[in-house]
Amino acid sequence: MTIDIRAEMAKYYDLWPPPFDDVPFYKQHIASPDAAVLELGCGTGRVLVPIAGSCGYIHGVDISEAMLSICKQRLAKAGVPSDKARVELNDIVGFNLNHKYGKFDLIIAPYRVFQNLETDDQVDGFFRSVRKHLTVDGSCILNVFKPLKSPDEFAKVWSSDKENFCWEKVIEGQRVVCYEKRPQMDRQKLVIYPETIYRIYEGGELKHEVVFKFAMRCYYADQFEKLIVDHGFTIVNCWGGYADEAYGQGNELVIQFTLGEKKAS
Ligand SMILES: C[S@@+](CC[C@H](N)C(=O)[O-])C[C@H]1O[C@@H](n2cnc3c(N)ncnc32)[C@H](O)[C@@H]1O
Repeated sequence: MTIDIRAEMAKYYDLWPPPFDDVPFYKQHIASPDAAVLELGCGTGRVLVPIAGSCGYIHGVDISEAMLSICKQRLAKAGVPSDKARVELNDIVGFNLNHKYGKFDLIIAPYRVFQNLETDDQVDGFFRSVRKHLTVDGSCILNVFKPLKSPDEFAKVWSSDKENFCWEKVIEGQRVVCYEKRPQMDRQKLVIYPETIYRIYEGGELKHEVVFKFAMRCYYADQFEKLIVDHGFTIVNCWGGYADEAYGQGNELVIQFTLGEKKAS
């Protein structure tokens, strides 16, 4: 059994939304109201729930039971029926879904999910699964962040012993203070190992601390394109963010690709 590294942090995840609004973008890329959509690493349903009404069916996959449990509560609260949306606990590396649609018209992995795949084997397995689950006319959209510094600079400045304050919020009478740390980086493989620390205070007293450690493999714009092409896919669109920034210009790298057997519209 895989340990759920997000078991304790899941309830704080939505307190720190991404620095962009990608929901309208993903909605826009649903080709028809009947489309079947697969979200890889759907987490708490930040994207899955608001786009569920714009497609025929959406299926979410995530490796964290804690994140999925919040997603399920959100789906129920939004009144989305189970024939419109379902989520399952699975690894996006090497999954094999057996649902009535068989294949999906759109596969997405919003908010840098792909970067959680640390090794080449995981990346290969992920792309094999995408290939298996994509329709001939369908497309997949992946996103990573764009490193702002050259590889040398990045490796030089990323790691630090410092703890940085990120935000403070009051939730249900408790003060949650979030910090991040950047203790370690694999310079060869360009994998960073950030830590997010949540400290929960009650009346000025520290009650609980949650430390979330994870891996993010980083890609430069040309590497990200090459990786997708080298896995046999055809790139049909790319953007530098969700507000129409040109690829390589904004803070994000977003690529839409197809199986290449037929052109996406
Ligand atoms: C940054 S969150 C993004 C969640 C959601 N897509 C969003 O946009 O808010 C990354 C998610 O990917 C999931 N994840 C990471 N590696 C995974 C894997 N190998 N298989 C399935 N899910 C994975 C995590 O559990 C987490 O919920």
